[in-house]
Parts: sequence; C-alpha cells; structure tokens
Amino acid sequence: IQKLYDNSNLSRDEFTLLIDNIDENDYEFLFNLARKRKEEYYDKSVFMRALIEFTNYCKQNCNYCGIRASNSKVERYRLSKEQILECSDEGYRLGYRSFVMQGGEDPFFSDDLLCDIVKSIKYKYPDVAITLSVGEKSMESYKKLKEAGTDRYLLRHETASKELYESLHPNMSFDNRRNCLFILKELGYQVGAGFMVGLPNQKTSDFVNDLEFLKELNPEMIGIGPFIPHEDTPLGSSIGGTVEKTLVMVAITRLLLPSALLPSTTALGTLDSKGREKALKAGANVVMPNLSPTNVRELYELYKDKICTGDEAAHCRKCIEVRINSTGYSVDMGRGDHSEWGK
Ligand code: SAM
Ligand code: FES
Repeated sequence: IQKLYDNSNLSRDEFTLLIDNIDENDYEFLFNLARKRKEEYYDKSVFMRALIEFTNYCKQNCNYCGIRASNSKVERYRLSKEQILECSDEGYRLGYRSFVMQGGEDPFFSDDLLCDIVKSIKYKYPDVAITLSVGEKSMESYKKLKEAGTDRYLLRHETASKELYESLHPNMSFDNRRNCLFILKELGYQVGAGFMVGLPNQKTSDFVNDLEFLKELNPEMIGIGPFIPHEDTPLGSSIGGTVEKTLVMVAITRLLLPSALLPSTTALGTLDSKGREKALKAGANVVMPNLSPTNVRELYELYKDKICTGDEAAHCRKCIEVRINSTGYSVDMGRGDHSEWGK
C-alpha cells in the first residue's frame, strides 16, 4: 500500500498480492492514504452532479441490467425535451452547475434531438457542465454531441477482461467499448470509465486488468460500484459485490490515478445506508443526487432496492449535504472539473 502511494503504480504481481491478501486490518491504512491523496488534489471538497435519468428504453441486453431490452416487466418511459429542461431549471434553482443526463441506448433520442436538448440547456445556463451517458455511438455522433456543447461523457468499461465482458454483453465487443473510450478522449471530452465489483466469475486478474486499463486510458472520472443482482435478469440469482471490496477498489484507484474524479456511487448507498459516506472516506470525491421527476424514478431500476426513488430533488440535495458534512467534507456546487482540466 505504501509503495502504491509512493509510486502511483504497482506491477501486476504486486497488485495481485495486494488484492488477494488485504483484510480488515489494512483497510484503515489504505483508506487514510487514499483520503490524504484526494485532499492533495481536491482539498475537502466533494462535487455534486445532478443526475437526470431521462429514458429507460434500451436496445442492449446487458445480462446484469434491470432495464435490458428483453426485460418485458419494465414499464418504459422517456422524458420529453420540455421535462428535461424543467429538470435542469429545478437543478439550477437548487444550485447545481453540473448535470448528468443518463439513459439506456434509446434510438428515439437521435443525435439531432440530443444536440438540441444540450444546446437548449447551455443557451439558458452557459455556466453549467453537461455530461452525457447514453452508451456506445459512432465517432461522428460523439463529435456532433461535443460540438453541441457536451462537456463530459460517462461510459463505464464495466470490466477490462475481454472474455468476461463479452460473456456479460450479448452482441457487444470489448474492443468497441475500448475504442469508444479512446475516441471520446481524442475528441476532448472529460471521460468517465469504470467497472463493477462482484460480477459472476470475476477474479483478481480481472481487477488487475481494470487497473491497468485505467492507467492506460487515464480517464478524468472513474465510477466503481458493486454489482447488485436484479431478479428479472439472467444474473438474478448471482451473489453480487460487497461494500468492502468496492471500497478497497475505490481506494486503490485513488492511489493509482491521484487526480481522478471518483464518485461515491448510489449502488454503494443501496447496499449499506452509510455506503456513500464510507466511499468518501476511502478516496471518492463526487456524489450524484437524483434529479429525475419522482414519478419515473422507480422505473429506472437497474438493480434491486435502489435508493432515493421516492425523494424530491430538494430533499436529496439536503440529505446528501448532511451526509457529506458528516464525513468532515463540504459540498462544492461548482462545475467540478478535473483538477488538471484546461491547464
Ligand atoms: N446506457 C449507458 C451505458 O451503457 O453506459 C448508461 C446507462 S447504464 C444503465 C449505467 C451503468 O449502470 C452501467 O455502466 C452499469 O455499470 C450500471 N449497472 C447496470 N446494472 C447494474 C447492476 N445490476 N448493478 C450495479 N450496477 C449496474
Ligand atoms: Fe436522495 Fe438521500 S440522496 S434521499
């Protein structure tokens, strides 16, 4: 752990040794160093991003995901452009300057429609940062969305092991996922990658692949969350990831890529009521409260018992602030750019 802190890297064997042997006696040492490193770059700030889940239609069939195309039990919804703009009005009024628009891969939202929505938000609120998270697209599409004003793009790589990736994603390829991420980088987005912890058959060597892939891509943001089974998916009876293992991977990632923006994920808050606070104490520095209208929140059910589905945006804003303050950190409502962005 000390070597990782000193060098911001380890060899494959050293990562394997660390991940295989770390136990609760070492957690405090690891988490404290991760927190110290985070504070060198971001001090006591935790960035807030307002999350708008604007469509649960999806053409993909990821085996773990509750809104996969084949799940006929999901009641599907799309927010209209007007509803999305209303969400951004409400968010802006609550002080948010960073919006994340996330959805399934929904062809209804063409490049033109997405560009129009992004431009409309930017026209009204030029001081906000907009992040899109709508899956794999062509270079041309990513380019149009960038030119329309999109600042950032989230596309978790999910797992960097080709075989595991392809066993979880019918008709998708890891090479294309990887390619999309490098294209997004090249186009000048602030890019978010990331992976799930506790996938079926996920081994230490898979985590080492994730770490090596992240070091190579050097994304601005990295989302790491536990896999939580959803009963209406092919992986419904799997075991899922643990809070501890996820926190360990968050902390290791902080030491590997010291200036990255690391969200404390909703999935962690779902497994443990204090999960998000624990992640902030293990090196995370972003939270993404939900801003979607309450009448659609339960429908964006990626996994079982997702939290915050009944809470108004203002309630979430306040709730998260109390939680962040309880960790000794403070809310930063700014755009929350990466520390080296624009330098
Ligand atoms: N369609 C976009 C994409 O593929 O990047 C964004 C939406 S997708 C639902 C957002 C993220 O949810 C995925 O990257 C995945 O890591 C996470 N997710 C989906 N199902 C999950 C589950 N059962 N447990 C934990 N995370 C899950
Ligand atoms: Fe939504 Fe706590 S963050 S209620």
